[in-house]
Amino acid sequence: MKRLILQALSSAEGPVSGEALSRAVGKSRTAIWQWIKELREDGYVIDAAPNRGYRLLSRPDRLYPWEIQSRLKTRVIGREIEYRPVVDSTNDLAKTMAKDGAAEGLVVVAEEQRKGKGRRGRSWASPFGLGVWVSVLLRPAIAPYDAPQAALVAALAAARAVEGEVGVEAQIKWPNDILVGGLKTAGILVEMDAELEEVRSLVIGVGINVNLSRQELPEDARSRATSLMEAAGRKIDRVELLAAFLTRLEESYFTWIEKGFAAILPALREKAAYLGERVEVIEAGRRWQGIARDLGDDGALLVEDDSGQLVAVYAAEVSLRPGQGARSGQGRAGA
Ligand code: BTN
Repeated sequence: MKRLILQALSSAEGPVSGEALSRAVGKSRTAIWQWIKELREDGYVIDAAPNRGYRLLSRPDRLYPWEIQSRLKTRVIGREIEYRPVVDSTNDLAKTMAKDGAAEGLVVVAEEQRKGKGRRGRSWASPFGLGVWVSVLLRPAIAPYDAPQAALVAALAAARAVEGEVGVEAQIKWPNDILVGGLKTAGILVEMDAELEEVRSLVIGVGINVNLSRQELPEDARSRATSLMEAAGRKIDRVELLAAFLTRLEESYFTWIEKGFAAILPALREKAAYLGERVEVIEAGRRWQGIARDLGDDGALLVEDDSGQLVAVYAAEVSLRPGQGARSGQGRAGA
């Protein structure tokens, strides 16, 4: 209903009378008045002039489901959106809802996370209203060993959304970070519920530092992290960015599922950071160096070690070799 009223208000040139609104959405004038009251409580500024009608003057900077859904071009992702002003972790809530039978495509989004999670047990700073903290529930019919590819599928969608909405070049740092100007602006945490041979659900958690100022980034991450606002020099519309990300995610997800991972590889290669550069790999506690050469057909990072052998890396932290430029490993705080 809120979406319909907002649509009617924003598509009109001037004020819309209560009567016209009630005709447009098929509810009584008293009901319309109640909805207008609620929208105002949500932060919309709506002017009401006697005998003339309602006028939408401004929208709040909030990731309300009806705002996102009115911009989505998807059939599955975002059919259901669970919105929380504050939550411990959108990934945890999405996992609980998945266990309770939520359908593929569920989106959980929050303005703030109290216990945002990064990879490897790190925390992820998620202050109120400044980022996109979102989780998407997927139920692909894939084998568990192919699940890590989902991080790259989501990274591609995030990079494309950032480029399209913000107009800056975004790179994918294998396997799960988005870099702008060499600095981390987003991270991805994929969590899986699976049996040995079958994936029951994947929760793709994405944290994008959108409108944080430098001071709002966690102190220990400032040397290697940034926000889109800092990179672009202007405030970014979070609703547009989130809708673009979800739309892109649906594209890359169905390409992956229907045509296989090879179908998104060329696009991933184009955006992959560090190819041709010397990197340090930390894999199961072992540290070694080599030249990042390529992405494998299955999503592995192919690194040439110092004996000239090409090694497929599946689960590791990779950073530019210290001393070779900005370190892009992640700190304690995720941002
Ligand atoms: C990383 O780079 O370490 C991954 C960070 C992932 C953060 C996102 S924010 C939304 C979702 N909910 C969480 O608790 N974490 C992910």
